[in-house]
Amino acid sequence: MAVARETVAPVHLRLEELRRTIDRMNHDYYVRDRPSATDAEYDALMRELRKLEADHPELVTLESPTQRVGSAPQAGFGEVPHPVQMLSLGNVYDEAELRAWALRAATRADVASLALVSEPKIDGLAVALTYVNGRFDHGATRGDGSIGEDITANLRTVRSIPLLLPARSGEPLPRRLEVRGEVYLRKGAFAALNERIERDGGRPFMNPRNAAAGSLRQLDPRITATRPLRLFVYGIGYMDGGDPPTSHLQALDLLRGFGFEPSPEASRHPTVDEAWARCVWWQARRDALDFEIDGVVIKVDDVRLQQEIGFVAREPRWATAYKFPALQQTTRVRDIVVNVGRTGTLNPLALLEPVNIGGVMVSRATLHNEDEVARKDIRVGDTVVVQRAGDVIPQIVQVIVERRAGVESPFRMPEACPACGAPTHREPGVAMRYCTNAACPAQLKQRLHHFVGRGAMDIAGLGEKLTDRFVDLELVRDVADLYALDWERIAQLERLGEKSSENLRLAVERSKERPLPRLLVALGIRHVGDRSARFLAERFGSTDALAAAECDEIAAVFGIGPILAQSVFDFFREPRNLAVIDKLKAAGVRTADEPTAGGAGGTALAGKTVVLTGRLSSLTRPQAEEALRRAGATVGSSISKKTAFLVAGEDAGSKAERAQALQVPILAEEDLIALLYGERGTMPVDGAVNEDSGTDAMAAPPVETGSGRDEEGRP
Ligand code: IVH
Repeated sequence: MAVARETVAPVHLRLEELRRTIDRMNHDYYVRDRPSATDAEYDALMRELRKLEADHPELVTLESPTQRVGSAPQAGFGEVPHPVQMLSLGNVYDEAELRAWALRAATRADVASLALVSEPKIDGLAVALTYVNGRFDHGATRGDGSIGEDITANLRTVRSIPLLLPARSGEPLPRRLEVRGEVYLRKGAFAALNERIERDGGRPFMNPRNAAAGSLRQLDPRITATRPLRLFVYGIGYMDGGDPPTSHLQALDLLRGFGFEPSPEASRHPTVDEAWARCVWWQARRDALDFEIDGVVIKVDDVRLQQEIGFVAREPRWATAYKFPALQQTTRVRDIVVNVGRTGTLNPLALLEPVNIGGVMVSRATLHNEDEVARKDIRVGDTVVVQRAGDVIPQIVQVIVERRAGVESPFRMPEACPACGAPTHREPGVAMRYCTNAACPAQLKQRLHHFVGRGAMDIAGLGEKLTDRFVDLELVRDVADLYALDWERIAQLERLGEKSSENLRLAVERSKERPLPRLLVALGIRHVGDRSARFLAERFGSTDALAAAECDEIAAVFGIGPILAQSVFDFFREPRNLAVIDKLKAAGVRTADEPTAGGAGGTALAGKTVVLTGRLSSLTRPQAEEALRRAGATVGSSISKKTAFLVAGEDAGSKAERAQALQVPILAEEDLIALLYGERGTMPVDGAVNEDSGTDAMAAPPVETGSGRDEEGRP
């Protein structure tokens, strides 16, 4: 048998090596959020592993990364008893209630004050994962707290769940370990998933939580495997063997060491004041996070004290949840009106009885399109549930049908444009209805308003009232007419003196120098926002070049998806648009940017290896490295033939010489800034324009996200 063993042994070793490497890459990607390999490298390793396993089926293990694609469908879920109950949490709704809770806990623990830990309350689905001797054995939902559903096969497909715990030197793995956490979907991944489901003709999920729960409670694990689920862990159910942690933070560290991703940014607070401040902090950040949270969990840190403080009914007394004010409220639909967007879309809008939702008064909700109104059967007079999320325009989630009195009137989309009376048109397969009149003043008003907006030509002082007036007085028939206004006449318009008219003239004049990406945004090409405009400008450099580009050339640009490319291509096929661009050019508006160094744009950094040397003056070294990495570049430490270029600051030494010898291009610091940020010296500002910004945002179909690494993880 010696011969046979000799041939098997290397395969066995290679398999192990491949699995370890792929597991590490998955961990870097899904848990640490720091990809350590390109998709191509990852795919190559997976291919090799699949091939080896196909040749040696006897060596396939349950924990192999190849098994993450999901096993065969099941008939139902088995039951799993929880050896330690999965509790729920009591809630507090304000500072006073939090203080009262902390006081009760401290009294029970018989201490003067308690160290607390806070962490976000993730809005997903609670799971308990059991590991036996370091191997994932089974996983369950919370169920009723005592008995859950066996969703092991589905959980195996979640890439951020380790299937094998790493044995750490000197420390034995626990014989049994039950890890608890929340399976969730990132907001971006949720949007992409819903888009995919809708494209395939399915019914989209209501929110990321439902999507996560629905995906985990799928009878076909192969479907679960296609859902970009993730896991945050927040505690240990029980641990048998090994050193049990003595504090909650220690438990989170232990879990991190095992390869899990603990609840993000957990922090310790010596006082309730600080814990409350943290609750306020999380609430303010809520909308900016890429995962949904519905509160903050506050726990006593010390495990011994936790035990002393104990439980009441099915809730621990040593932990509580500060629940954020609801972002849903009920109110009544007063009317449904139709606005005309800048591309001619007819946008139904619900006018609501004003209602306070999470601190903001809401009196309007977008209804998207006529199908949406019909699907939700929203009628004037209905009582509805309204939801607000971040800066997004509020939406009607559902009608409370039980509250109907029978007098509500269904909505009908007008056959004629409500602004100009022209016929409207709806193409088969398209959700939006359009006004057919290219000269519709409502469209022009919106286009103009968008054109002068902050993320576009940024003409200060030119508000909506004034631009509307220009249209009403027929001073402006397209956006280019702004540059041919008769300023003396404008000065005589009511409420506009000579001084402000002169200021406006100057602002309009200055806007001619806006860089190309701003102009591309201003033109109002569907789906083109700040980011995609920069990518397009970097690649093509001028409106002329863009107009001459084929659709597939546009689609080949980093960050530009096929829908966006088609939209840009179509825009430049339209003679009216070309005429406006010619007019802009004739008026002296900049329609081309000087190409950046080496013809490369910010995104031309993607995939390149860049080396830094010498002292930089406007950025620190870590800032520069970080910015390069964000642009997709790798920061190298030494010059080789593979180095795309060297950035040489002051006092650059031997690296510059070596770069010269190897004919590696050398860039100055300003060139780097230009590459990274487009315009010289303009650092990116948060809160820049969204993709498909402006008044049409609510009418537009789902915005395409850039290509590159998608939200959904690996195929
Ligand atoms: S601790 C004994 N921490 O909230 C303490 N729970 O309402 C048990 N949840 O079912 C829970 N994020 O699924 C804890 N950071 C977090 C959490 C969290 C979300 C969920 C959990 C539980 C529910 C309780």
